[in-house]
Amino acid sequence: MLAVAREKLPDGTPLYLADMSSFNLGMTFDVIVCVYHGINHLLDFSDWEGFFDCAYRHLNYGGLLIFDVITMHSLEMMASSPQTAQQFADNYLLIRVRDSGRAIFDWDIEVFELQPSGKYILIPEVIRTASFPREMIRKAVDERFSDVSTIASDGSVVANNDTLSRIWFVCTKNGTSWYDSGVGASCSSAGQVSPSQPQLAAGDPG
Ligand SMILES: C[S@@+](CC[C@H](N)C(=O)[O-])C[C@H]1O[C@@H](n2cnc3c(N)ncnc32)[C@H](O)[C@@H]1O
Repeated sequence: MLAVAREKLPDGTPLYLADMSSFNLGMTFDVIVCVYHGINHLLDFSDWEGFFDCAYRHLNYGGLLIFDVITMHSLEMMASSPQTAQQFADNYLLIRVRDSGRAIFDWDIEVFELQPSGKYILIPEVIRTASFPREMIRKAVDERFSDVSTIASDGSVVANNDTLSRIWFVCTKNGTSWYDSGVGASCSSAGQVSPSQPQLAAGDPG
């Protein structure tokens, strides 16, 4: 992924390899964007909380965290559907999504890639994803960020719709939430958690 990004980005663009649920870049940003459901690759909700903590710490006041989520509804629908097949160039992609329980969905992916010899080779991969109820995600970001909007892919505001396939979260750090006096206040020294907020220490990357 980083090699592909390196090819596409201007020379000198900094790239970092780190765990998104626990990182400290030692700097802050105006906007943090995590799209194409990157967060669904974290299988435990404590890691989602770790990501929210890290993103919060790395934002300037007034800054935005924007991320999208594949919903549980969407993964459940995919898991109840038959295998799909797509052709790209002379190659074929087969995907089946399996419900592996405890909110984890495994994507069984098979690529049949045409070789110069005219034969196909099979490239199999299993990608593990997880999703959690909208209200659970909403509560976790509400605990940290002062202003949160949930938006559907068509731009409409999400209220209580649990049939969407993807939800976008736009979270503002404006420095007025209770969270700001605890973990968020330690932006420049990630890992220091106020003893007055011990319940957040479990999500703290340290
Ligand atoms: C669906 S892709 C997201 C693509 C990317 N956001 C983009 O815009 O092209 C998910 C990516 O998250 C990476 N990933 C999975 N777990 C991760 C973790 N704990 N920390 C950082 N990246 C992770 C995967 O390797 C994969 O490259």
